[in-house]
Amino acid sequence: MNEKINSMKEELAKDIENTHSMKELADLKVKYLGKKGLVTELTSNMKELSIEERKELGKLSNEIRTQVTDSLNQLEAKFQEEELQKKLEKDTIDISLPSEKIKRGSRHPFNRIIEDVEDFFVSMGYDVVDGPELETDENCFQRLNVPLGHPARDAQDTFYIDTEYLLRTQTSSVQARTMQENQDKTPIRMICPGKVYRRDDDATHSHQFGQVEGLVIDKNVSLADLKGTLELFAKKMLGENTKVRFRPSFFPFTEPSVEVDVSCFKCGGKGCPLCKQTGWIEVLGAGMVHPNVLRMGGYDPDIWTGFAFGTGLDRFAMFRYAIPDIRYLYTNDIRFLEQFDRKDEENEIK
Ligand code: DAH
Repeated sequence: MNEKINSMKEELAKDIENTHSMKELADLKVKYLGKKGLVTELTSNMKELSIEERKELGKLSNEIRTQVTDSLNQLEAKFQEEELQKKLEKDTIDISLPSEKIKRGSRHPFNRIIEDVEDFFVSMGYDVVDGPELETDENCFQRLNVPLGHPARDAQDTFYIDTEYLLRTQTSSVQARTMQENQDKTPIRMICPGKVYRRDDDATHSHQFGQVEGLVIDKNVSLADLKGTLELFAKKMLGENTKVRFRPSFFPFTEPSVEVDVSCFKCGGKGCPLCKQTGWIEVLGAGMVHPNVLRMGGYDPDIWTGFAFGTGLDRFAMFRYAIPDIRYLYTNDIRFLEQFDRKDEENEIK
């Protein structure tokens, strides 16, 4: 038996020497420790032995099994270590290389405009309020003095959901809401930036665009207050040298109504293709809140007066960033958005 064991040990030593991979090691395990392996074979004639001899052989074979297992485990550990070393050598990190730039997103030009508008009006004591994009016909039109069948509806081609609900065509709907919701009928000073929807689709009109609505209701509010507010607003958005011009106009929810033009910031008013040689660009609709609108909102027009205004946000973004097509603002093409790098913000015309 001893001879058998010695020759097996010798064979094992040789096998270990000739084993160079995990795969070969796996074969070696089967050869020695498998069900029909050499270590198991040592006890194959157990049945023919006496109890004493069996005990002896059992002990011996267990010792051998432990020894063989240890040797093979050592070999396995050695291979693992070698593999790790190889990997580490391959994966060396050169800490002297410049690090990879982290790609940061940037604020959408539309949101930059909204934030500027909000900053300005909050500094003047206005609240920023929100309203739903899915709106009732009542809030979007009727409470703004545009009853069913009124011709002013034609100018706002609309997405109706049913006869009662539509995607709002103007943020003016939030005027109606704010007046109704203000149960105590206290003064109102609010702006509402948001999205509106109309059936439009060309370079200067998109089916979706942004507006900001403003509403002030108080006692003794006058057109002069409106004028002063909008003049300051135009200067904040388009530059200190901006001039403002008011023209009479018509909106069903204001009386009198005005259209507001700003001096062309590109040519300074001399005339250029942007302002169609007129020196002026139309940016805003406004006026004194119509008595009917006040009444429907629960405000007595003999006591309260107010002004309102509404302006497109996209045009400001298009002016400021020279964006040629309004639809770029809504298609979210990464090649467009990437151009609004954060560091540009410091250089913006404000
Ligand atoms: N809602 C109007 C539009 O979409 C803009 C507007 C004009 C809003 C006059 C006003 C206003 O609040 O007083 O064309």
